[in-house]
Amino acid sequence: MAILSLKDVFDYGFVKTAICSFNFVNIEQLYGIVTAAEELQNPVVLMISQKTALKYGLEEMFSLAKSKVERLATPYVIHLDHAKSIELVEKAIDLGFSSVMFDGSSLPFEENIKKTYEVVKRAHKYGITVEGEINTIYGKEEDGISETNIYTKVEDAKKFAEETEVDFLAVSIGTKHGLYEGTPSLRYDLITEISNLIKPKLVMHGCSGLTADQLKKAIQSGIKKLNFGTEVMLTQINSIKKSLENLSKPDIRPVMDSSIEEIKEYVKNTINSILW
Ligand code: G3H
Ligand code: ZN
Repeated sequence: MAILSLKDVFDYGFVKTAICSFNFVNIEQLYGIVTAAEELQNPVVLMISQKTALKYGLEEMFSLAKSKVERLATPYVIHLDHAKSIELVEKAIDLGFSSVMFDGSSLPFEENIKKTYEVVKRAHKYGITVEGEINTIYGKEEDGISETNIYTKVEDAKKFAEETEVDFLAVSIGTKHGLYEGTPSLRYDLITEISNLIKPKLVMHGCSGLTADQLKKAIQSGIKKLNFGTEVMLTQINSIKKSLENLSKPDIRPVMDSSIEEIKEYVKNTINSILW
């Protein structure tokens, strides 16, 4: 199976309820995620964030993912996550990403619409899926911080969906990036209302730290793509810490291998506990 666009993964029936999307920043995280998807034969979205792309190279990170998955049996989506730069999105389209997110949520609303529509027109020519975002999602995102939790307004979602023609829309329903202190107030009613009203499929960012029940309820309410980042990072950090305590030889490879294994288990558990 080749690399598919996010839209095609749904349209061809590879996804029954929703799709899990994982950020990766290095080869071990990528291998852990892909090994889990292969063992479960379940498609996932491999996400490269703008910050990761700027740090390690968009082309380098894309090539890493592409060469790992292009000959595998399970369909994969390679997605540019939270790109705030149109130039970066254009570069991703030229490289062959199968899905791109243009995050104009920190722009004035009308400007976000205008720029997102520009991206849609260009990406759709090549069959590439586009995700947009309205209302910056609360918490420490890689490139910025939204101090307040603003729930998406239904009329904004409707206008944005109609005027940009995005395929996927990230909405603010009470989640935040990073881990949670206390219990978040998730607005399942808002997910249902917006998903019944607009054509784009809804995306929930900030899924790390939520319980399986919360994630399942979000899917039942209409979420189709769930984004996990911090938990991948923490799984690797904790695994490396543990391995280093027992390090007997000057060889980093077994340390990194254990982290692949633990990320694989984390991804499998996540998928098994929320998708059905
Ligand atoms: O776009 C990426 C996700 O929203 C990651 O959020 O780090 O809270 O899981 P998280
Ligand atoms: Zn996000």
